[in-house]
Amino acid sequence: MSAGATGRVVRGAVLSYRDDPTLVGPQSAVRFHPDGAVALGADGRIAWCGPAAGLPDRFRTAPADDYGTALVLPGFIDAHVHFPQYRMLAAPGTDLLDWLRRFAYPEEQRYGSAVYARAAADVFLDRLVQHGTTAAAVFSTVHRGAAEALFAAAERRRMAIMAGKTMMDRNAPAALRDDPAAGVRDSETLIERWHGRGRLRYAITVRFAVTSSEAQLAAAGELAARYPDCHVHTHLAENEPEIALVARDFPWAHDYTDVYDRFGLVGARSLFAHGVHLSARACARLSAAGATVVHCPTSNTFLGSGLFDLRRLKEGDHAVGIGIATDVGGGTSYSMLQTMGEAYKVAMLRGYRPAAHELFHLATRGNARRLGLDDQIGSLEPGLWADLVVLDPTATPVLAARHELSEGIADVLFALAILGDDRAVRATYVAGNRVWLRRPPQAP
Ligand code: GUN
Ligand code: ZN
Repeated sequence: MSAGATGRVVRGAVLSYRDDPTLVGPQSAVRFHPDGAVALGADGRIAWCGPAAGLPDRFRTAPADDYGTALVLPGFIDAHVHFPQYRMLAAPGTDLLDWLRRFAYPEEQRYGSAVYARAAADVFLDRLVQHGTTAAAVFSTVHRGAAEALFAAAERRRMAIMAGKTMMDRNAPAALRDDPAAGVRDSETLIERWHGRGRLRYAITVRFAVTSSEAQLAAAGELAARYPDCHVHTHLAENEPEIALVARDFPWAHDYTDVYDRFGLVGARSLFAHGVHLSARACARLSAAGATVVHCPTSNTFLGSGLFDLRRLKEGDHAVGIGIATDVGGGTSYSMLQTMGEAYKVAMLRGYRPAAHELFHLATRGNARRLGLDDQIGSLEPGLWADLVVLDPTATPVLAARHELSEGIADVLFALAILGDDRAVRATYVAGNRVWLRRPPQAP
């Protein structure tokens, strides 16, 4: 980090988390400067963060973006999202498997065309930043070219993207199937080319046990052992018919988690999307392995998959690491604000009321930890990448009216989680560059 050189200063109500507020209490977890400043280094990293009055002299002449009372937070991190589903939200499947067959698989077949994939990657990443999301763990398709297109587009934007080519060799249309050897070969090529290049990371990506043979799961496990600093990214225990299929096809397994476990796919770098229906045994195993279950609330309600039990997974005897994600296009919004709002409602239906700080922590530093990136992103410590989102708590008439009644920062955040969406995203910064600025609506 170049200590003196600064690109810009961003001013506003600056908020970030040092830790999980439900574990250590908001007092020591939350860093809040109502009149705050973040100095962005010329290297794209945070040079300084604190109360504006304390801004060191060397930053005082730097150009400033002053957002007044708007909130400045670390950019949102989406811990599970499908790039090739960027345009097929709101597809009315009767359940997960029907939705995959009738809507997801046909659309994903188009990514056999590199031209189509390249255009889609640009739209997809633009959409993320328009929603205040600056980093993500992303599913691609089975095609190597589609993952290439995504990595190349992310590199041009200097975004922290973790992605992988999807491995799937059965129970899917022929145009979406690879085979164990090809899956490994393509994954290796991509790992060698992209993993650790700039801000990019590779995740060994098995779609789910339904679409991989035992030979492919074994090959993926061997790959994970050979590249231990790559994450593993897959789906787990999302809905009942899916779980029944897995039980039928892998009769020797204790449960769905055990299928992945037997092939070496359950570890501290494993991201399991959904985990709506997990036995106590599975939770204990995931906990012991240090694995992550990624909560995808808008997807789980939209596809009728079930009500994720946030408290049980977080607080049980065998607490499991939790991430939070949109799961677009099973999910119905790119907005991590809407995702937090849905997580709140699902938790309420399970008898648990998450605090606003808990939700915002999950979507920032919590997800950074689960992606193994908390020394790079997720909070506003000097030296971390300057990925920021600026949120306007008065962005819409409804938010503005509610804001007049807000009592303190936790209440402001709560209203944003319940009522906010992309309209509340005033600006987004990636690696110190402002990549999105929302013009305030014109007066009528
Ligand atoms: N399980 C396997 N593939 C998918 C997918 O594309 N979306 C969701 N929500 N679940 C899956
Ligand atoms: Zn998914």
